Amino acid sequence: MTGNREEFTVTPWEVRGEVNYERLVVEFGLTPLNKDLYERLTRLAGDTHKLLRRGVFFAHRDLDWLLDKYERGEMFYLYTGRGPSGHTHLGHMVPWFLTKWLQDRFGAKLYFQMTDDEKFLFKPELTLEKTRKYALDNALDVIALGFDPDKTKIFLDTDYIGFLYKIALQFAKKITFSTVRATFGLTESSNIGQIFFTSIQAAPAFIESIITGKNVPCLIPLAVDQDPHFRLARDVAPKLGFYKPAILHSKFLPSLSGGGKMSSSEAMSAIFTTDSPEEVRKKIWNAFTGGRPTIAEQREKGGNPDICPVFHYYAFIFEEDDRALGERRKRCLSGDLLCGECKEDLIKRVTNFLKEHQRKRERARDIVDKFLLRGEQTF
Ligand code: TYM
Repeated sequence: MTGNREEFTVTPWEVRGEVNYERLVVEFGLTPLNKDLYERLTRLAGDTHKLLRRGVFFAHRDLDWLLDKYERGEMFYLYTGRGPSGHTHLGHMVPWFLTKWLQDRFGAKLYFQMTDDEKFLFKPELTLEKTRKYALDNALDVIALGFDPDKTKIFLDTDYIGFLYKIALQFAKKITFSTVRATFGLTESSNIGQIFFTSIQAAPAFIESIITGKNVPCLIPLAVDQDPHFRLARDVAPKLGFYKPAILHSKFLPSLSGGGKMSSSEAMSAIFTTDSPEEVRKKIWNAFTGGRPTIAEQREKGGNPDICPVFHYYAFIFEEDDRALGERRKRCLSGDLLCGECKEDLIKRVTNFLKEHQRKRERARDIVDKFLLRGEQTF
């Protein structure tokens, strides 16, 4: 995506440059999440979530339609996922935090897809054994977030293909190679699994409709890089007699090294759920910030929280209190708060969070089987 002032790329497999979300709304054809809809969601949920309140979830497709259906008594289900190419980082969990909140507030079922097939197809260095291993490891992170075991199913594509394949085929038959190539930037030399893959990611958006034999609304929380898959799925859905899935789009928790989203393959750019306190300390201390080159200059001119990944970590995850976040921002802008203090405080919060999360991850090993779907199982 090229603009006058900036250049950036957002595809499911690559996020590069300084993402301009307003331009993405236009180019992807998204609807901004406006105040009215935010307030309606808040009223129906009974409270709000910081990721919504702070505009981290900034856009949607058909959320208003989904809420109309809900108010008329048509319950929706949730669907989201992970491409298991390594350990989970904190950015991956951003859509999962909101998904968990939605499940709690609305009592919705969740299908969670582990696209071990996708990562095998798109990452030359990965084997199917490795992507399976990561998928089972990443499932522990999902479970550790506290999803309801009676309302949540997780599946690896290679385990659940018996069920998914029949849905995927219906989509595959209605999507041409030229559409896939244009949507995802594939080329003549892309492998043929990559061309087919989008129909596998589309399939869970229709699972409940297939199982129940009647249309069931589906809501997909994700970060905006995954939207292109569902643009295609939404185009095809009515042709097959399905509802179009509704979508809620998040911005990216930025890379600690500055710019773009975090990357599983660049260790210093992200904090992984398996990181030790020492690794957390090193990564945050080395992080890019919105600070000035010298303390004197920062005291005089203040820092820039808007471009600072450390500040974004607070805003996305590590500061619940809006007033405290506002205060931190003000102190940064005025030069009162220096980066060292801000980083130290974040190190403490991240370390405490991970200590607790890692404990829950270990406990999740005992119950992971209850969450996993195989063969043609359903809820
Ligand atoms: P994956 O594994 O790249 O990412 C998992 C989820 O995390 C989001 N995400 C981020 N969100 C905020 N900040 C970041 N820095 C960040 N990096 C990644 C992604 O948008 C995604 O929601 N193909 C998918 C797996 C998948 C899926 C789905 C995702 C299968 N079905 C349905 C969403 C909805 C993938 O590789 O995600």
